[in-house]
Amino acid sequence: MAAEIIRGTELRETILDEVAEGVKTLKEKTGRPPGLVTILVGENPASLSYVSLKIKTAHRVGFKEVQENIAEDVSEADLLALIEQYNRDDTIDGILVQLPLPKHIDESRVIDAIDPAKDVDAFHPVNVGRLMLEGSSAPFIPCTPAGIQEMLVRAGVPVAGAEVVVVGRSNIVGKPIANLLLQKGRAANATVTVVHTGTKDLASHCRRADVLIVAAGVPNLVHPEWIKPGACVIDVGVNRVGERVSEKTGKTVAVLRGDVDYDAALGVAGWITPVPGGVGPMTIAMLMKNTLKAMELRTL
Ligand code: GUN
Repeated sequence: MAAEIIRGTELRETILDEVAEGVKTLKEKTGRPPGLVTILVGENPASLSYVSLKIKTAHRVGFKEVQENIAEDVSEADLLALIEQYNRDDTIDGILVQLPLPKHIDESRVIDAIDPAKDVDAFHPVNVGRLMLEGSSAPFIPCTPAGIQEMLVRAGVPVAGAEVVVVGRSNIVGKPIANLLLQKGRAANATVTVVHTGTKDLASHCRRADVLIVAAGVPNLVHPEWIKPGACVIDVGVNRVGERVSEKTGKTVAVLRGDVDYDAALGVAGWITPVPGGVGPMTIAMLMKNTLKAMELRTL
């Protein structure tokens, strides 16, 4: 039987409708909408496209959105000063600095400078620590892991007691999703294994997974033989493998592939997320949810 496809594009709509309702309520209570500032340094095409989607979505749910697009050669001191300006701005609830940053800027110093109460990415050490200690009760869950957990819940994938294998140990996806699913609680309580480039036999670990979460950044890394029949496969990879001309707009757009051999995996998995249209849209929806929550926590 073919896998059930978990479409992030559909779930996103439900979440954004819920956020837009929350924005209305907050606006009635406080007289202002949540404010989100996006800070983009340089012109990395992938970052430009992510940030423009974030801005478009913020606008759609009724946020005040501020865009800071700064030159690649900005000094670290100037970037830190800009962050401090938004830390002090009461109309801004969320500060998002798009990663990666140019090499001359220390990413940790930049993340550390964001007020943890406005850290809607949940990358600040305070929020990383709170996720470790409190699981899904932490104030902010990083957007991609939060989106993955939401997909598992809404698709009815059993997670409690399941063998979850996470491929990849990044600070943005691998480590926090492993932590989140390890905790006691809703859509968690799993037995979690994290595998990475130093793991001896990736395939044998993957084959044991009831839920396989792949965030390696390697196109078609996971072959169908690596998937346990009926398992849930969450593909976080967004790999730009070429370009094509869009039939709709006539513009050149990137051809995207996940980390999983999707067509082949469809015949083995029980559930699967597509690329594009899977985890990506959920990440942006959860950013909006975190920004709404940031305002609630700061004002109510
Ligand atoms: N770069 C890749 N993913 C992300 C993300 O979720 N947030 C930020 N700020 N930068 C990223």
